[in-house]
Amino acid sequence: MCGVVGYTGTKQAASWLLDGLQTLEYRGYDSAGIQVVSPSGNLHGVKCAGRVAVLRERAAAANPVGTCGIGHTRWATHGAPTDRNAHPHLDGTGRIAVVHNGIIENFQELRRELMAAGHTFVSDTDTEVIPHLIQEAWDGPAHGDLAAAVRNACDRLEGSWAVACVCSDVPGTLVCTRNGSPLVVASTDDGAYCASDVMPLAGVTSHVLQLDDFDVATLSPDGTVSITDRDGRKVEHPSAIDIDWDASAAKLGGYSDFMAKEISEQPEALERLLKDRLGKHGIELDELSLTREELAAVDKIVIIACGTSYHVGLIAKAAIERWARIPVAVEYASEFNYNEEYLVTDHTMCVVITQSGETADTLTAARRMRGMGCNVFAITNVLGSTAARESDGTLYIQAGPEIAVASTKAYTAQMVASYLLALRLALANGSMERAEVEKHFHELETLPDIMREVLARRWQDKQAARLFRGKQSSLFLGRNVNATTAYEGALKLKEISYLHAEAYPAGEMKHGPIALIEGGFPVVAVVPADHVHDKTVSNIQECLARGAVVIGVATDGDERVAKMCSEVLWVPPVADELLFPTVAVIHLQLLARYVARDRGYDVDKPRNLAKSVTVE
Ligand code: M6R
Repeated sequence: MCGVVGYTGTKQAASWLLDGLQTLEYRGYDSAGIQVVSPSGNLHGVKCAGRVAVLRERAAAANPVGTCGIGHTRWATHGAPTDRNAHPHLDGTGRIAVVHNGIIENFQELRRELMAAGHTFVSDTDTEVIPHLIQEAWDGPAHGDLAAAVRNACDRLEGSWAVACVCSDVPGTLVCTRNGSPLVVASTDDGAYCASDVMPLAGVTSHVLQLDDFDVATLSPDGTVSITDRDGRKVEHPSAIDIDWDASAAKLGGYSDFMAKEISEQPEALERLLKDRLGKHGIELDELSLTREELAAVDKIVIIACGTSYHVGLIAKAAIERWARIPVAVEYASEFNYNEEYLVTDHTMCVVITQSGETADTLTAARRMRGMGCNVFAITNVLGSTAARESDGTLYIQAGPEIAVASTKAYTAQMVASYLLALRLALANGSMERAEVEKHFHELETLPDIMREVLARRWQDKQAARLFRGKQSSLFLGRNVNATTAYEGALKLKEISYLHAEAYPAGEMKHGPIALIEGGFPVVAVVPADHVHDKTVSNIQECLARGAVVIGVATDGDERVAKMCSEVLWVPPVADELLFPTVAVIHLQLLARYVARDRGYDVDKPRNLAKSVTVE
C-alpha cells in the first residue's frame, strides 16, 4: 500500500524515482507521482491516476530536471484516485512538496485550523495538511532547518506516516521521517536514497538503514545521511540491514508474470528454508528467543494473521496440536484486536504470521499480545520488517521477494516454517522422540521434489480452467487440513479472477451452500487419499447429484475420484497427510492464474488489492 521513494545526489532524479516506483508497484496502488527539484530551486512535479507506465509517459513529455526528488504510488484512502489527489502534495507557497504513506487520523481538525489561518487546500487527501504544517514551521520557528520543520509538523499528526519532503529553498536536501509506516534510507557513492522498503534499493546498495518511529533523516547530495530522534538528538547507531536479495530476484527473468515465476520458485524456497535445520539439538530454530525449558512450558499458542497467512495459521494449528500436543487458537488479527475479553495463560506463546511483516492489523495484534505478557515469535519473509523488529524472535522464510499481490511461495514456505516450529516444540516438551522428529523432518525434505512434479502437471490446471468459462460462482470443498486448502484455493481465485468462490469444509456443505449448486456449477473438491477420503467422496456425490461439474484434487491412482470428476488435478502421494496441503495448493494457485488469464486480467496487480495492507 502506498510506496515512497526519494533520491538526492549526482544523477538525474526522475529516472531513478520512476524505476523505484516501478519496483514498488507490487504493493498495490492507483495513482503515482514525482516531484523533482533543480539545483536552482525549481520544483517540477508530474502526477496522474493510473499506472507508473502512464506517469513515465507524462514525465518523458514534461522532462523534469533535477538531481533531488521524491516519488509516490498512492492507494486511495481519503479521496478518489484522481490526478488531483495523487502525491506529491504542495504547501500553500508551492515551495514544499511531500509524499506520504499512512493515514493522518486528525487531518480534519488540522485542516480546519490551517484554513482558519488562511491556508487553502486543493485535494481531498489527509496528506495535504502535512506540507502546510511544514510551511508553518519552515516560515516560523524552524526557519532554514528543514529537518526541524518536518519534525515540528509531524509532532502535530496522529495516525501513521512515512513522509519524504523536498523544498525549493534548499534544493539538494531531502528530509524523511516515519511513525508506524516503514521507511529505509541508504547512503551510496552517487547520493542518498529513501524508500518504503528495500526493493527499490536492491540495485543500488546492499546496506540500508532503518528509521525508528519519529526519527528524522536528512539526506544530502554527497550521500550523507544524518538521523536525529524525536528530540533532535543525533542517532549514532541506527539499525542496519544487509540486503541479500539480488536485484534480479525481483525481475521477471523470462516469465510472463510474477505470479507464474513465484509459483515456480516454491521448491527452491523450501530447500533454502530446510537447509541446515536438522542439527545436533534436533530441529535448529535458534530464531526462537525461548529456552528449551520455556518452550517446554508453553501451554497455549495464539496464532495471529490475516488473509493467506491466516490459512497458514490453520495448518500450523493442525501440526502443532498433532505433533506438540499444545492447544492452538488461530485468530484473524482484525477480529482479535477488538475482542476485549481475550484470555491467555502465563505460558501462552504468540506466533505472528505475515509475509510482508507490515500488515497493520497483525502488528497491532502482536503489540497487544506482547502487552499481555506473551512471547511473540514472527514468521515473515521481509528482512527488517516491523513484525521482525518488534518480535522476540523471527523466523525468516527466505522465499525471496514476492511481487505478485496474490501470495503463493510465501504461503507454502510459511507453512513449512510452521511445521518446523511444531517439531521444535514437540522435541522441547517431549511429546515426540527425537527419532520421530527426524523422520518427520525427512518427510518435509521430500516436498520440493513433489512440488516439482505438481508444477510439471500444470497442463491439468490449464485444462480445468476452461470449466470456469461463463460461470459466475464456484464452490471449493475439502475436509480436515484440506478444508484450508479449499479456503486458500477460493481466495486465490477470487483475488485474481474476480470470480466468486465460496469455500467450505465439505461436510458442512449440506447445511447451506449446497443450495448454490445447479447444473454446470463448478465445484473444486480437495480429496486426497487420507482418513476422511470416503466422507469427501460422498460429498462429491452429493454435488454430482445436483448437476455440479466437479474438479478433483486427488492423490495419483485414485480411480474412484477419476470416475466422478470432469477433471482431476493429480498430486503424487505424500508421506503424511498433514503435508498434502503444501503441495496440493500449487494446483489451485495455477488454476486461479489460468482462470484469471482466460478472463483477461492482470494476475500480478488485481484491482483494489495491496501487497502489504498498512491500514486497519
Ligand atoms: O503480508 P501478510 O502476510 O500479513 O498479508 C496478509 C494478507 O493481506 C495477504 O495474505 C493477502 O490475503 C494476500 N493478498 C493473499 O494472496
